[in-house]
Amino acid sequence: MVALLENPLRVGLRQERMPEPLIIVIFGASGDLTQRKLVPAIYNLKRERRLPPELTIVGVARRDWSDDYFRAQMREGVEQFSDGVGSDEIWQDFAQGLFYCSGDIDNPESYQKLKTLLAELDEKRGTRGNRVFYLAVAPKFFPESIKQLGAAEMLEDPVKQRLVIEKPFGRDLSSAQALNQVVRQVCKEEQVYRIDHYLGKETVQNLLVFRFANAIFEPLWNRQFVDHVQITVAETVGVEDRAGYYETSGALRDMVQNHLMQLFCLTAMEPPNSLDADSVRTEKVKVIQATHLANIHNLEQSAIRGQYSAGWMKGKQVQGYRQEPGVNPESTTPTYVAMKLMIDNWRWKGVPFYLRTGKRLPKKVTEIAIQFREVPVLIFQSAAQQANPNVLTMRLQPNEGISMRFEVKMPGPELRTRPVDMDFRYGSSFGKTSGDAYDRLLLDCMIGDQTLFTRADEVEAAWRVVTPALTVWEAPTDPASIPQYEAGTWEPKEAEELINRDGRRWRRL
Ligand code: BG6
Repeated sequence: MVALLENPLRVGLRQERMPEPLIIVIFGASGDLTQRKLVPAIYNLKRERRLPPELTIVGVARRDWSDDYFRAQMREGVEQFSDGVGSDEIWQDFAQGLFYCSGDIDNPESYQKLKTLLAELDEKRGTRGNRVFYLAVAPKFFPESIKQLGAAEMLEDPVKQRLVIEKPFGRDLSSAQALNQVVRQVCKEEQVYRIDHYLGKETVQNLLVFRFANAIFEPLWNRQFVDHVQITVAETVGVEDRAGYYETSGALRDMVQNHLMQLFCLTAMEPPNSLDADSVRTEKVKVIQATHLANIHNLEQSAIRGQYSAGWMKGKQVQGYRQEPGVNPESTTPTYVAMKLMIDNWRWKGVPFYLRTGKRLPKKVTEIAIQFREVPVLIFQSAAQQANPNVLTMRLQPNEGISMRFEVKMPGPELRTRPVDMDFRYGSSFGKTSGDAYDRLLLDCMIGDQTLFTRADEVEAAWRVVTPALTVWEAPTDPASIPQYEAGTWEPKEAEELINRDGRRWRRL
């Protein structure tokens, strides 16, 4: 257990700041994301007194809702998906700033109507022309809505007007480039906030603090001392009710290209010059550009996919992916991906980074494990003993924390050794768990801090890394050739082989 020092290092990623008065315009206001995540997150910020009283939200969607109906829907969202409204007074104050504007994403008149409403609200609520346009719509509507916002001259002001885009940013390199091109035609990169919610997780940000606010780890963080790195994002959930989306996406697009690549970048990047958005993002881009699948000529040695079959989770029988409602019974969509990445730079040349993610695995756990090299000669080694390398583990969720595994002498007259863990847990050290990722990201966007948002070149570079696997996996395949793993068990045997071939093993979590 690690005790908090009395005078902790002051390394906050940014100063506490209050956004300027502004209007958040949410396209896709009648959808799930708005009700479950966005409005509850904004409301939490309101309750924490992090928002100016003028803050206004305008929901835009096709349905013919009134302001009052929108308010009632959002209240339901806050009650159901976050800590509730708390005091009725705070809710009433918040609700007065909620408005609804029905409109079609491809109809220029809808944008004119919206523009008029926003101008009126500027007068009424004192929001001074500051806007955040949040695209909480299906990705196929991104290009059209961005073009329409451009045509209506709603993204003209690079300081006051911002655009938020939810993942996925394209479905491969060329569509990501095309989307970035559309964005570039109507606004500047400094107006664009591409959300990857993993970057909003407290513990993901802590990776930066851990690496660059402590002097003792960074000298070890390289090919001289590190044997390999394992990044795991394991989920217990299956495809849930998202088969329509997931069938066209799969684990590589849904998790690897974005969330896992972000964890990878923060682990592997060089120290940035400062914490300003471009310094951090430039370092991330540099490391991805030096990264490739271990063997692009033999995909099986660098990337494997899998699909969950029927099995048991917490004593309950669950169906296999192909039997889930809405999934093609012959689907080849991967629900599991494992990869071996290599980085061609001075720091990491020769050090494999193994990444894995899957649905319906036995545990929900996200962690990054740095396994150090073994000692050159183990003088304590008896025939029965094996060397246990040091492992530094950052647990990102749940039970957020950091632990260091090292060897100690077991009590007793014999000189026998055993590995133990030195543990830091967020919950016990700070007495509270980290806030929701969306709260943090929305606040940063309102403030105008892009550090935790992905830049256009970063998105494209991440697509480049996964493209060789994507290309092969997109080709028509015999469904019988997709490796299966039973729901509630760890990876398919092909994923074991991927790492065992190198004389290493996946961590058992
Ligand atoms: C989303 C994916 O981006 O991340 C989901 O679309 C996945 O499929 C989710 O379940 C995981 O997020 P978290 O925060 O629960 O780890």
